[in-house]
Amino acid sequence: MPARPRGSTRRREGEHVYPSKPEPATVYEGRLFHRGRLVEAEMGVDDDGKIVAVAKQLRGGRRIHLGESILLPSSIDLHVHFRDPGPPGEVEDLASGTVQAALGGIGAVVDMPNTIPPLTTVERLEEKGDRIASRAWVDVLPYAALIPGVDVPGLARVAAGFKLFMGPTTGDLVTPADEERRALLESVARTGLPVHVHAEDAALFGHGHPPQDTDTWDQARPMSSELSAIRSLRDHPRSLRLHICHATSPEAVVAAREIGASTEATPHHLLLAASQFGNTQQKVNPPLRPERVRQALWEEFQKGRVPMLASDHAPHALARKSLPFPDAPSGLPGVEVMLPLLLEQVRRGSLELATLVQVSARRPALFLGVPRGSLAPGNEADFLVVDFRARRKIEARSLHAPCGWTPYEGREAVFPQEHYLRGERIVEGGEFVPGRRARRLLPRPPGT
Ligand code: DOR
Ligand code: ZN
Ligand code: ZN
Repeated sequence: MPARPRGSTRRREGEHVYPSKPEPATVYEGRLFHRGRLVEAEMGVDDDGKIVAVAKQLRGGRRIHLGESILLPSSIDLHVHFRDPGPPGEVEDLASGTVQAALGGIGAVVDMPNTIPPLTTVERLEEKGDRIASRAWVDVLPYAALIPGVDVPGLARVAAGFKLFMGPTTGDLVTPADEERRALLESVARTGLPVHVHAEDAALFGHGHPPQDTDTWDQARPMSSELSAIRSLRDHPRSLRLHICHATSPEAVVAAREIGASTEATPHHLLLAASQFGNTQQKVNPPLRPERVRQALWEEFQKGRVPMLASDHAPHALARKSLPFPDAPSGLPGVEVMLPLLLEQVRRGSLELATLVQVSARRPALFLGVPRGSLAPGNEADFLVVDFRARRKIEARSLHAPCGWTPYEGREAVFPQEHYLRGERIVEGGEFVPGRRARRLLPRPPGT
């Protein structure tokens, strides 16, 4: 007979008594990442897709043995461009983007507003919500563009945050002048929502010969322009949750910290370097940096000194990427391979698993204020089954990006074998399976 729940009064004849903790529907047993390390334990998940318990031993439930595999929280990608809405024939949409996210171990994405048309009005954000509801296979946090004239309080009810472009890049979103920017940041600070910044100062761009490779692209949009943009935000409102996207150097990470902002590093700035052979597939804003800078950023990342990881997944059609270097668009796909590339670094012993989980799951969840990012009771049951023996070479033809190319061709990676979103399996044996539990995530509007 189960113990009576605490505080219950005398029981009438025939009345059912529930144990104080319901038994989980499913129990996963094996090596789980819990409180900063791998432990032999059991994790119970209920039918609503919540983690109900993690302990040495749990009672009941359908039992799943992990064998040689380990259980990790799903990642959260703070930065993708899923190009939805977009014109007919656009290279990505919410369906194709979220399939890649699912396969890459990402259970939630922050989706950027430089779409066609750009997400600058309440109406467009509402429509974006409908698109997410009908197409997305993982959770999506839609962001609004922070440009002069936007209705910040209105957008705060339908967007999960704001994106500020301080330099010219895909989408031609207007960069507000200094005074306008100050006013916009003040009004976002009042909403409590975050602002993510593309930090490049066009006043410091080079005007030499047209760039022909990733070396000269780096010189055209130098590190000094990134540092200048970050530092120009130093007088931001103190209550603002400010986040600097794609830091390309240790100095950029430090500059962000000094102004009280968080930062992310991308897999391309961590793993690829500028070179005189670098072609348009590696053309990105801000640019890849010289090998010594890449190495220095990687070392900071290894030491856990870069707060977060994000893909900046920004695919473009191969036809457009095949234009001469100066005319080709900037951006590269990364959402499917980001975590697998870094799991391979863990397998090789060049990155601590704890560091990777921290930057890809735990901190992004805390930053966004969503109940996930760790295998803890009360959190959504978003998790991955990873087997380090199941590694394979990345090939564009076996990835799921409609753009059909990858700058990581031939690199080793460890793809998750299984991915669960709210307890429902969306990747099985490394293959995508459609689920029903993806959502638009909006932080609770202020005052509710
Ligand atoms: O390289 C980039 N591509 N940088 C950006 O800021 C935007 C992105 C895109 O949307 O293509
Ligand atoms: Zn950017
Ligand atoms: Zn971006």
